[in-house]
Amino acid sequence: MAFEKTIASLQGAYAILLISKKEPDVIFFAKNAVPLILGKSHENEVYFSSSDAPLIGWAKEVIYLEDGQYGWVKNQSITLLKEFEPQSLHFKTLTKDKILAQKDGFRFFMEKEIYEQSLVAGEAIMGRIKDHTIVLDELNTLCFDDIDAIKICACGTSYHAALSASYMFERLAKIRCNVEIASEFRYKQPLLDKRTLFIVISQSGETADTLEALKMAKSSGMTTLAICNVDNSSIVRTADFTLLTRAGIEKGVASTKAFATQVITLWLLTLFVAQHKKSITPEILSSEIEALLHIPLVLKVDEAIHEKLHRLSKRYLHGHGFFFIGRDIFFPLALEGALKLKEISYLHAEGYPAGEMKHGPIALADSELFTIALMPKTLLYDKMKSNVEELSARDSTLLVISPEPFELADDFIKTKQHKHPMGEFFEMMLITQLLALEISIRLGNDVDMPRNLAKSVTVE
Ligand code: G6P
Repeated sequence: MAFEKTIASLQGAYAILLISKKEPDVIFFAKNAVPLILGKSHENEVYFSSSDAPLIGWAKEVIYLEDGQYGWVKNQSITLLKEFEPQSLHFKTLTKDKILAQKDGFRFFMEKEIYEQSLVAGEAIMGRIKDHTIVLDELNTLCFDDIDAIKICACGTSYHAALSASYMFERLAKIRCNVEIASEFRYKQPLLDKRTLFIVISQSGETADTLEALKMAKSSGMTTLAICNVDNSSIVRTADFTLLTRAGIEKGVASTKAFATQVITLWLLTLFVAQHKKSITPEILSSEIEALLHIPLVLKVDEAIHEKLHRLSKRYLHGHGFFFIGRDIFFPLALEGALKLKEISYLHAEGYPAGEMKHGPIALADSELFTIALMPKTLLYDKMKSNVEELSARDSTLLVISPEPFELADDFIKTKQHKHPMGEFFEMMLITQLLALEISIRLGNDVDMPRNLAKSVTVE
């Protein structure tokens, strides 16, 4: 058959659905190296998708097609083959929870997912702290004695989670950690060392650049670990070890709860490595655990702050750009705040390390440049304050997010007092997410499906 012959001669990555004029009632399909999922409803309707999330509420069971598989669907009957041999159909039940596919009274899935963060933070931690120690059963057979450095590869929001983790790994676990954007890593001819643990982070588990970076590391003999939200995804199936982030299905293209659970999982992993390497005292470990357990509470949305952000948002719909600034772990958070805003508002936003503004970007400062300053009390407050004062002196419009009142601020969001920087991190994360949401809604954008973006980026 022409379709089979064509598929047999194809090279590279593809997921194909084909309808021909000659047989208009048949859908031909084939896949290699990128995901293709076949779903079936109660009424035997057949669906195709690149991930299972969009099928929830439509299909009751799915087949995660393997590389090299192909076939056709005719009159609801499915034929599956590989290398000209018929294959049996192994359907897996898809979650029946249609609730997950509903907005529950929220205006957008992204808003619902922001509100769910408190709950899923608890899920991410559940069963992973026992008797004042971190327990990650998934890593029981990973030998940390053979590891003396960590390299993390990821894209987009997951890259920002990776950057936050690099501060934690070096500070707490005392292990060298470097982070790379997966699409850059792939072509730089990197030097790969078997004593380096290779971590990839991906909410979808299907990002092509991250998957290829993982395959490179794996084939060089490195030990690989995936931090991922989707079990059964290509990245999970490829990595030697996996820690699932347990955020549940995320429908909004702009990631919120998946990011929060990535950071929590990486924090747990940092403490796990620190425990193993005995790089922190039991007292510090206990205080870290106490702070971690407090995060679900921190992530409860304060309706008054949400309402305030809604009101403030009308002042931030124009201007020639936004700078989100922060220091230390608040720098990756600034990057993430800026990414959220540009993804859904289409306004120009950049994240910058606050101390670096004076080396160029401050030239942009004027009243139409909006600076969103993350000013935690627990980390480098005074350094941050002087960076923000420099921007105020150049008349930049300042939105300050801090537990400490700041008199030069044009707008001020008061956060709670926290003992631990991560408490401030998560509270400020929530605020930047809600700010992006409210600005985007005012601009009339489709928050859940921003233009030009996709939830799983399965192409290079
Ligand atoms: C896309 C999405 C981003 C996401 C990135 C990485 O570009 O639009 O929101 O952060 O992919 O996705 P991953 O699934 O690997 O975390």
